[in-house]
Amino acid sequence: MPLVNTAEMFKKAYEGKYAIGAFNVNNMEIIQGIVAAANEEKSPLILQVSAGARKYANPIYLRKLVEAAIEDTNLPIALHLDHGESFEICKQCIDDGFSSVMFDGSALPFEENIRITRQVVEYAHAKGVSVEAELGKLAGVEDDVQVKAEDATYTDPDQAVEFVERTGVDSLAIAIGTSHGAYKFKGEPKLDFPRLEKISNLLPGYPLVLHGASSVLEEYVAMCNAFGGNIPGAKGVPEDMLAQASKLGVCKINVDTDLRLAMTAAIRKCLAENPNEFDPRKYLGPGRDAIKQVVQHKIKNVFNCSNRI
Ligand code: G3H
Ligand code: 13P
Ligand code: ZN
Repeated sequence: MPLVNTAEMFKKAYEGKYAIGAFNVNNMEIIQGIVAAANEEKSPLILQVSAGARKYANPIYLRKLVEAAIEDTNLPIALHLDHGESFEICKQCIDDGFSSVMFDGSALPFEENIRITRQVVEYAHAKGVSVEAELGKLAGVEDDVQVKAEDATYTDPDQAVEFVERTGVDSLAIAIGTSHGAYKFKGEPKLDFPRLEKISNLLPGYPLVLHGASSVLEEYVAMCNAFGGNIPGAKGVPEDMLAQASKLGVCKINVDTDLRLAMTAAIRKCLAENPNEFDPRKYLGPGRDAIKQVVQHKIKNVFNCSNRI
Protein backbone atom coordinates (compact mmCIF):
# COMPACT_ATOMS: atom_id res chain seq x y z
CA MET A 1 0.00 0.00 0.00
CA PRO A 2 1.36 3.50 -0.79
CA LEU A 3 1.16 6.41 1.66
CA VAL A 4 -2.44 7.61 1.99
CA ASN A 5 -3.77 11.14 2.38
CA THR A 6 -6.12 11.98 5.25
CA ALA A 7 -9.45 12.17 3.32
CA GLU A 8 -10.69 8.65 3.94
CA MET A 9 -9.44 8.40 7.52
CA PHE A 10 -11.06 11.70 8.51
CA LYS A 11 -14.37 10.80 6.86
CA LYS A 12 -14.56 7.55 8.84
CA ALA A 13 -13.32 9.18 12.05
CA TYR A 14 -15.94 11.93 11.82
CA GLU A 15 -18.75 9.46 11.20
CA GLY A 16 -17.52 7.09 13.92
CA LYS A 17 -16.88 9.95 16.41
CA TYR A 18 -13.29 8.91 17.10
CA ALA A 19 -9.92 10.54 16.41
CA ILE A 20 -6.79 9.59 14.51
CA GLY A 21 -3.56 10.01 16.47
CA ALA A 22 -0.99 12.22 14.76
CA PHE A 23 2.38 11.51 16.28
CA ASN A 24 5.60 13.46 15.72
CA VAL A 25 8.53 11.41 14.46
CA ASN A 26 12.25 12.17 14.58
CA ASN A 27 14.09 8.85 14.28
CA MET A 28 13.75 5.13 13.65
CA GLU A 29 12.95 4.04 17.20
CA ILE A 30 10.13 6.57 17.51
CA ILE A 31 8.62 5.45 14.19
CA GLN A 32 8.94 1.77 15.12
CA GLY A 33 7.37 2.24 18.55
CA ILE A 34 4.36 4.13 17.15
CA VAL A 35 3.85 1.77 14.23
CA ALA A 36 4.09 -1.35 16.44
CA ALA A 37 1.30 0.06 18.62
CA ALA A 38 -0.94 0.97 15.66
CA ASN A 39 -0.31 -2.42 14.10
CA GLU A 40 -1.45 -4.26 17.22
CA GLU A 41 -4.50 -2.01 17.49
CA LYS A 42 -5.31 -2.17 13.76
CA SER A 43 -5.42 1.61 13.68
CA PRO A 44 -4.82 4.12 10.88
CA LEU A 45 -2.02 6.52 11.63
CA ILE A 46 -0.65 9.97 10.86
CA LEU A 47 3.10 10.34 11.27
CA GLN A 48 4.14 13.97 11.23
CA VAL A 49 7.42 15.73 10.64
CA SER A 50 8.14 19.17 12.09
CA ALA A 51 10.73 21.72 10.95
CA GLY A 52 12.87 20.57 13.88
CA ALA A 53 12.58 16.95 12.73
CA ARG A 54 13.52 17.90 9.16
CA LYS A 55 16.62 19.65 10.45
CA TYR A 56 17.53 16.78 12.80
CA ALA A 57 16.90 13.78 10.55
CA ASN A 58 16.68 14.98 6.93
CA PRO A 59 13.15 14.29 5.62
CA ILE A 60 14.27 11.64 3.12
CA TYR A 61 15.41 9.34 5.95
CA LEU A 62 12.07 9.76 7.69
CA ARG A 63 10.11 9.15 4.49
CA LYS A 64 12.05 5.96 3.75
CA LEU A 65 11.51 4.73 7.32
CA VAL A 66 7.78 5.40 7.02
CA GLU A 67 7.71 3.56 3.68
CA ALA A 68 9.47 0.65 5.40
CA ALA A 69 6.81 0.71 8.13
CA ILE A 70 4.05 0.47 5.50
CA GLU A 71 5.83 -2.38 3.73
CA ASP A 72 6.21 -4.14 7.07
CA THR A 73 2.61 -3.68 8.30
CA ASN A 74 0.39 -2.63 5.39
CA LEU A 75 -1.23 -0.04 7.66
CA PRO A 76 -2.88 3.07 6.14
CA ILE A 77 -0.33 5.74 7.10
CA ALA A 78 -0.28 9.42 6.14
CA LEU A 79 3.07 11.19 6.15
CA HIS A 80 2.27 14.74 7.19
CA LEU A 81 4.25 17.98 7.36
CA ASP A 82 3.64 19.55 10.78
CA HIS A 83 3.57 23.37 11.02
CA GLY A 84 4.80 24.16 7.50
CA GLU A 85 5.81 27.79 7.73
CA SER A 86 5.65 28.78 4.05
CA PHE A 87 4.23 27.80 0.66
CA GLU A 88 7.76 26.79 -0.38
CA ILE A 89 8.22 24.32 2.51
CA CYS A 90 4.80 22.79 1.80
CA LYS A 91 5.62 22.51 -1.91
CA GLN A 92 8.97 20.90 -1.17
CA CYS A 93 7.38 18.26 1.09
CA ILE A 94 4.66 17.56 -1.50
CA ASP A 95 7.35 17.19 -4.17
CA ASP A 96 9.28 14.90 -1.77
CA GLY A 97 6.30 12.53 -1.52
CA PHE A 98 4.47 13.61 1.68
CA SER A 99 0.77 12.72 1.49
CA SER A 100 -0.46 15.55 3.70
CA VAL A 101 0.85 18.99 4.69
CA MET A 102 -0.02 21.66 7.19
CA PHE A 103 0.40 25.30 6.30
CA ASP A 104 0.55 27.16 9.60
CA GLY A 105 -0.41 30.76 8.93
CA SER A 106 -1.84 31.24 12.41
CA ALA A 107 0.55 34.11 13.14
CA LEU A 108 -0.39 35.94 9.92
CA PRO A 109 -3.23 38.42 9.38
CA PHE A 110 -6.48 36.64 8.41
CA GLU A 111 -6.38 37.63 4.70
CA GLU A 112 -2.72 36.61 4.35
CA ASN A 113 -3.40 33.26 6.05
CA ILE A 114 -6.26 32.70 3.57
CA ARG A 115 -4.14 33.69 0.56
CA ILE A 116 -1.24 31.34 1.27
CA THR A 117 -3.45 28.48 2.48
CA ARG A 118 -5.40 28.75 -0.78
CA GLN A 119 -2.13 28.62 -2.74
CA VAL A 120 -1.00 25.49 -0.85
CA VAL A 121 -4.42 23.86 -1.36
CA GLU A 122 -4.28 24.42 -5.13
CA TYR A 123 -0.81 22.93 -5.41
CA ALA A 124 -1.51 20.02 -3.05
CA HIS A 125 -4.91 19.00 -4.42
CA ALA A 126 -3.53 18.74 -7.94
CA LYS A 127 -1.27 16.00 -6.56
CA GLY A 128 -3.79 14.25 -4.28
CA VAL A 129 -2.23 15.63 -1.11
CA SER A 130 -4.42 16.84 1.78
CA VAL A 131 -3.94 20.15 3.54
CA GLU A 132 -4.43 21.28 7.13
CA ALA A 133 -4.42 24.96 8.13
CA GLU A 134 -4.65 26.78 11.46
CA LEU A 135 -6.79 29.64 12.64
CA GLY A 136 -6.31 31.13 16.10
CA LYS A 137 -3.01 30.97 17.94
CA LEU A 138 -1.90 28.38 20.52
CA ALA A 139 0.36 29.28 23.42
CA GLY A 140 3.46 27.26 24.21
CA VAL A 141 6.81 26.29 22.73
CA GLU A 142 7.10 25.09 19.18
CA ASP A 143 10.41 24.87 17.36
CA ASP A 144 12.10 27.24 19.83
CA VAL A 145 9.35 29.83 19.26
CA GLN A 146 7.58 30.71 22.50
CA VAL A 147 4.03 32.09 22.33
CA LYS A 148 3.04 33.58 25.69
CA ALA A 149 -0.39 32.68 27.08
CA GLU A 150 -1.50 36.33 26.80
CA ASP A 151 -0.63 36.34 23.07
CA ALA A 152 -2.69 33.24 22.32
CA THR A 153 -6.04 33.80 20.58
CA TYR A 154 -8.93 31.39 20.46
CA THR A 155 -10.49 30.58 17.07
CA ASP A 156 -13.47 32.71 16.11
CA PRO A 157 -16.28 30.37 14.92
CA ASP A 158 -17.60 32.65 12.15
CA GLN A 159 -14.08 33.27 10.86
CA ALA A 160 -13.50 29.51 10.83
CA VAL A 161 -16.45 29.05 8.47
CA GLU A 162 -15.29 31.86 6.18
CA PHE A 163 -11.74 30.48 6.24
CA VAL A 164 -12.80 26.96 5.26
CA GLU A 165 -15.12 28.22 2.52
CA ARG A 166 -12.57 30.56 0.98
CA THR A 167 -9.55 28.24 1.13
CA GLY A 168 -11.06 24.80 0.45
CA VAL A 169 -8.68 23.43 3.09
CA ASP A 170 -9.29 19.80 4.14
CA SER A 171 -8.99 20.19 7.92
CA LEU A 172 -8.62 23.06 10.35
CA ALA A 173 -6.56 23.27 13.53
CA ILE A 174 -8.35 25.38 16.10
CA ALA A 175 -7.29 27.09 19.30
CA ILE A 176 -9.58 26.30 22.25
CA GLY A 177 -7.09 26.32 25.13
CA THR A 178 -4.51 23.64 24.34
CA SER A 179 -0.87 24.64 23.94
CA HIS A 180 2.38 23.05 22.84
CA GLY A 181 4.85 21.53 25.29
CA ALA A 182 4.71 20.15 28.83
CA TYR A 183 3.33 23.22 30.64
CA LYS A 184 -0.17 23.73 29.30
CA PHE A 185 -2.21 25.03 32.22
CA LYS A 186 -1.31 27.23 35.18
CA GLY A 187 -4.37 26.22 37.21
CA GLU A 188 -6.94 23.56 36.46
CA PRO A 189 -6.95 22.24 32.86
CA LYS A 190 -9.76 23.86 30.90
CA LEU A 191 -10.77 23.74 27.24
CA ASP A 192 -13.41 25.97 25.65
CA PHE A 193 -15.95 23.25 24.77
CA PRO A 194 -18.80 25.68 23.97
CA ARG A 195 -16.52 27.23 21.33
CA LEU A 196 -15.61 23.82 19.93
CA GLU A 197 -19.27 22.87 19.77
CA LYS A 198 -20.14 26.11 18.00
CA ILE A 199 -17.39 25.64 15.39
CA SER A 200 -18.37 22.02 14.92
CA ASN A 201 -22.07 22.89 14.48
CA LEU A 202 -21.24 25.59 11.93
CA LEU A 203 -19.07 23.15 9.96
CA PRO A 204 -21.04 19.89 9.94
CA GLY A 205 -19.07 16.90 8.66
CA TYR A 206 -15.84 18.89 8.70
CA PRO A 207 -12.70 17.48 10.41
CA LEU A 208 -11.12 19.67 13.12
CA VAL A 209 -7.63 19.25 14.54
CA LEU A 210 -6.26 19.69 18.06
CA HIS A 211 -2.61 20.62 18.44
CA GLY A 212 -0.87 20.69 21.79
CA ALA A 213 -2.92 17.71 22.90
CA SER A 214 -0.45 15.69 24.97
CA SER A 215 -1.79 14.64 28.35
CA VAL A 216 1.68 14.96 29.92
CA LEU A 217 1.20 11.62 31.61
CA GLU A 218 2.17 11.78 35.29
CA GLU A 219 3.66 8.30 35.23
CA TYR A 220 6.40 9.34 32.80
CA VAL A 221 7.06 12.73 34.38
CA ALA A 222 7.48 10.92 37.71
CA MET A 223 9.80 8.34 36.11
CA CYS A 224 11.96 11.10 34.57
CA ASN A 225 12.16 12.79 37.95
CA ALA A 226 12.89 9.56 39.84
CA PHE A 227 15.97 9.04 37.68
CA GLY A 228 17.68 12.41 37.73
CA GLY A 229 15.17 14.67 35.95
CA ASN A 230 13.63 17.84 37.31
CA ILE A 231 10.35 18.56 35.49
CA PRO A 232 8.17 20.30 38.07
CA GLY A 233 4.60 21.46 37.51
CA ALA A 234 4.07 19.91 34.08
CA LYS A 235 0.39 19.67 33.21
CA GLY A 236 -1.39 18.38 30.08
CA VAL A 237 -4.84 17.90 28.58
CA PRO A 238 -6.88 15.36 30.58
CA GLU A 239 -7.70 12.25 28.60
CA ASP A 240 -11.45 12.54 29.13
CA MET A 241 -11.37 15.98 27.47
CA LEU A 242 -9.67 14.51 24.40
CA ALA A 243 -12.27 11.74 24.23
CA GLN A 244 -15.01 14.38 24.50
CA ALA A 245 -13.42 16.51 21.76
CA SER A 246 -13.27 13.53 19.42
CA LYS A 247 -17.06 13.28 19.64
CA LEU A 248 -17.40 16.93 18.60
CA GLY A 249 -15.71 16.87 15.21
CA VAL A 250 -12.05 16.64 16.28
CA CYS A 251 -10.66 13.97 13.95
CA LYS A 252 -6.90 14.50 14.44
CA ILE A 253 -5.15 14.76 17.79
CA ASN A 254 -1.48 15.82 17.81
CA VAL A 255 0.95 14.24 20.25
CA ASP A 256 4.64 14.90 20.61
CA THR A 257 5.43 15.81 24.23
CA ASP A 258 4.05 12.54 25.63
CA LEU A 259 6.34 10.57 23.31
CA ARG A 260 9.36 12.62 24.37
CA LEU A 261 8.55 12.08 28.04
CA ALA A 262 7.95 8.33 27.68
CA MET A 263 11.14 7.71 25.70
CA THR A 264 13.27 9.88 27.97
CA ALA A 265 11.84 8.28 31.12
CA ALA A 266 12.66 4.78 29.90
CA ILE A 267 16.18 5.75 28.82
CA ARG A 268 16.87 7.57 32.10
CA LYS A 269 15.70 4.53 34.07
CA CYS A 270 17.74 2.13 31.99
CA LEU A 271 20.96 4.13 32.28
CA ALA A 272 20.45 4.82 35.99
CA GLU A 273 20.03 1.10 36.65
CA ASN A 274 22.88 0.10 34.33
CA PRO A 275 25.47 2.88 34.65
CA ASN A 276 28.11 0.90 32.78
CA GLU A 277 25.91 0.35 29.72
CA PHE A 278 27.15 1.97 26.52
CA ASP A 279 25.41 -0.02 23.78
CA PRO A 280 22.74 2.38 22.38
CA ARG A 281 20.47 -0.54 21.52
CA LYS A 282 20.25 -1.41 25.20
CA TYR A 283 18.66 1.93 26.10
CA LEU A 284 17.00 2.94 22.81
CA GLY A 285 15.17 -0.41 22.86
CA PRO A 286 13.41 0.37 26.17
CA GLY A 287 12.79 3.91 24.84
CA ARG A 288 11.06 2.41 21.81
CA ASP A 289 9.01 0.06 24.04
CA ALA A 290 7.84 3.03 26.13
CA ILE A 291 6.70 4.85 22.98
CA LYS A 292 4.76 1.79 21.93
CA GLN A 293 3.09 1.56 25.32
CA VAL A 294 1.98 5.20 25.41
CA VAL A 295 0.73 5.20 21.80
CA GLN A 296 -1.19 1.97 22.28
CA HIS A 297 -2.85 3.39 25.37
CA LYS A 298 -3.93 6.53 23.51
CA ILE A 299 -5.21 4.74 20.42
CA LYS A 300 -7.17 2.21 22.45
CA ASN A 301 -8.35 4.04 25.55
CA VAL A 302 -8.48 7.71 24.55
CA PHE A 303 -8.91 8.15 20.78
CA ASN A 304 -11.15 5.07 20.39
CA CYS A 305 -9.32 4.26 17.16
CA SER A 306 -8.65 0.52 17.55
CA ASN A 307 -9.96 -1.86 14.88
CA ARG A 308 -10.68 0.90 12.36
CA ILE A 309 -9.00 -0.63 9.32
O1 G3H B 1 4.28 21.37 17.39
C1 G3H B 1 5.46 21.16 17.62
C2 G3H B 1 6.00 19.79 17.81
O2 G3H B 1 6.04 19.44 19.16
C3 G3H B 1 7.35 19.67 17.17
O3 G3H B 1 8.37 20.21 17.90
O4 G3H B 1 9.74 21.35 16.11
O5 G3H B 1 10.76 20.76 18.32
O6 G3H B 1 10.18 18.99 16.66
P1 G3H B 1 9.85 20.35 17.21
P1 13P C 1 2.19 18.46 22.32
O1 13P C 1 3.33 19.36 22.67
O2 13P C 1 1.05 18.67 23.27
O3 13P C 1 2.57 17.04 22.25
O4 13P C 1 1.64 18.90 20.88
C1 13P C 1 2.25 18.44 19.71
C2 13P C 1 1.76 19.14 18.49
O5 13P C 1 0.77 19.84 18.48
C3 13P C 1 2.52 18.91 17.26
O6 13P C 1 2.06 19.68 16.20
ZN1 ZN D 1 1.34 21.61 16.77
